[in-house]
Amino acid sequence: MKILVTGGTGYIGSHTVVELQQAGYEVIIADNLINSEASVVDAIGRITGIIPVFEEVDLADPGQADSVFQKHTDIKAVIHFAALKAVGDSVERPLEYYRNNIFSLINLLSSMSRHGVKHIVFSSSCTVYGQPDTLPVKESTARKDAESPYGNTKKIAEDILEDEVRAGSLRCIALRYFNPIGAHPTAMIGELPLGVPDNLVPYITQTAIGKRERLMIFGNDYETKDGTPVRDYIHVVDLAQAHVVALKRMLEDKQISPWEIFNLGTGNGFSVLEVINSFEKVSDMKLNYAFTDRRQGDIEKVWADTEYANQELGWKAERDLDEMMRSAWDWELALNDRNKKN
Ligand code: NAD
Ligand code: UFG
Repeated sequence: MKILVTGGTGYIGSHTVVELQQAGYEVIIADNLINSEASVVDAIGRITGIIPVFEEVDLADPGQADSVFQKHTDIKAVIHFAALKAVGDSVERPLEYYRNNIFSLINLLSSMSRHGVKHIVFSSSCTVYGQPDTLPVKESTARKDAESPYGNTKKIAEDILEDEVRAGSLRCIALRYFNPIGAHPTAMIGELPLGVPDNLVPYITQTAIGKRERLMIFGNDYETKDGTPVRDYIHVVDLAQAHVVALKRMLEDKQISPWEIFNLGTGNGFSVLEVINSFEKVSDMKLNYAFTDRRQGDIEKVWADTEYANQELGWKAERDLDEMMRSAWDWELALNDRNKKN
């Protein structure tokens, strides 16, 4: 069965392609490589023994988006990862984020409708909850005003999808990710941040490898266990596996309603200092870090209520924080070896 994975050479997409292939699906990747490398296609091939079909297209262009469906006439479902995702960058270039993320979705849905493709899994984010009034966050928790243009593209995309499902025969599962970290256990694929990383874990591993001098912790005066913000970190392989489960649920017609939302997290909140402690433990290194002011727009704490996903989707995150940090470190070491050879 052929599945189109947009953004399939990216961080979460590439891990999902591996899981899909290992579950027996045939994958077509559509990606314009704006935030990833073509070499990921070969890396996926080395892990699974199957090189996925790769189409280099910009989905924000309607003609290029449609060309994928014209060429591959038997696509059964789409998993849509392709998007720009840097929160700070989106504040500086809002139009680029709305253009890329919203046009891509509209083009994709138009082509799906034109070519009779009726199933889509969508990458949403816990960012749609903002700082929730009560924790843990359930799927029924109200969404808040977005804190960035990026966050707003996720909210708008959810609304577009829900309206489109209501209007016709489309079926959709929106997955709201908490904080994906870590890498594949083979260390052949992982996150490839361009320039200085915004996110905590790549910043930690780049500091440890010597690419950055020191990690700055944004605030230690929050009302949390140790004053640093708390997040629900989830291993990217657990996250990838949830996509296969969601896809199967749709294809086997097991949805309760054609528009569904699931939180994807572990249900555990860890502070920045706990993440650093875990890293120091698994790497047997001391990390150079210091405290600085809060980062604007950061929320204090958030973690998922996982009951609905566990019960209804029949999926549970299994990998713990140490495994997440170990795999992230192995990936950084592998990248370092690769850079030395080049
Ligand atoms: P990523 O940047 O590694 O992957 C996204 C991929 O989409 C990249 O390969 C990029 O080249 C591609 N892309 C972007 N615009 C495109 C376009 N117009 N046409 C074709 N390809 C395009 O990001 P990721 O971390 O793998 O995130 C995947 C999805 O999950 C995104 O939608 C992101 O917003 C969402 N998400 C990510 C996180 C996170 O922390 N990583 C959290 C919540 C939600
Ligand atoms: N942090 C630091 N120093 C750094 C980087 C991060 O102290 O150099 C802290 C942040 O203040 C925050 C925590 O580490 O408390 C996690 O920060 P990340 O940037 O890794 O993650 P966020 O929770 O801020 O946001 C991420 C993605 C968003 C997404 C959200 C929910 O960047 O796109 O997870 O999925 F919406």
